[in-house]
Amino acid sequence: MKILSPSILSANFADLLTDVKKVEQGGAPWLHIDVMDGHFVPNISFGPVVMQSLRADSSLFFDVHLMIEQPEKYIDAFVKAGADMIVVHQEACRHLHRVIQSIKAHGIQAGVSLNPATPVSTLSDILPELDMVLLMSVNPGFGGQKFIERTYKKITELKAMINAEALNIKIEIDGGVNLDNAKKLVECGADVLVAGSAVFGADDVPQRIKEFYERIS
Ligand code: DX5
Ligand code: ZN
Repeated sequence: MKILSPSILSANFADLLTDVKKVEQGGAPWLHIDVMDGHFVPNISFGPVVMQSLRADSSLFFDVHLMIEQPEKYIDAFVKAGADMIVVHQEACRHLHRVIQSIKAHGIQAGVSLNPATPVSTLSDILPELDMVLLMSVNPGFGGQKFIERTYKKITELKAMINAEALNIKIEIDGGVNLDNAKKLVECGADVLVAGSAVFGADDVPQRIKEFYERIS
């Protein structure tokens, strides 16, 4: 079963809960929560306080993508704010294994994200510890960017690494995902698709989510 994880980065921040309810109405089980610190990426979004407010009114699976330096300092705060999965960037962690262990010690799922220039081979020794790998298909920081075609090859390589060790790890793709490339992404091995502008840019968000599911299921 493939999953669509709509990114609230492209939602209306003045009325976030209304947009989250549209995600629920459309039947997407996950919500992708993009946290940016203005250091790891050249943009600032929001922190655990905003997320905690949404948690009080939604039972969606909170898929938290930390695009921040020193993510180990904020794991506790995002767990308390209601994260179901925390994904950290390989490029932001000097001690990646330790950070993953600390996420899992809270009893939630853990993932690692790779920027477009970071090869999937860098994950070979951490892979068995992970619940998910997030491959960035744009340079992180902004919604609405163009999908980087090289991502298809990275998905195929990662899928082969996962299968070689018979691991149960989801592959999530983030950036430039739309109705045109969704099917090819799942055919290559993606399990979770993040979509921001392609979901919240639609006039009818629940209908757009259904259109995504028609292509990926
Ligand atoms: C980018 C974020 C993405 C972003 C995707 O740095 O990690 O999750 O919201 O937006 P779209 O789908 O518009 O490319
Ligand atoms: Zn993201």
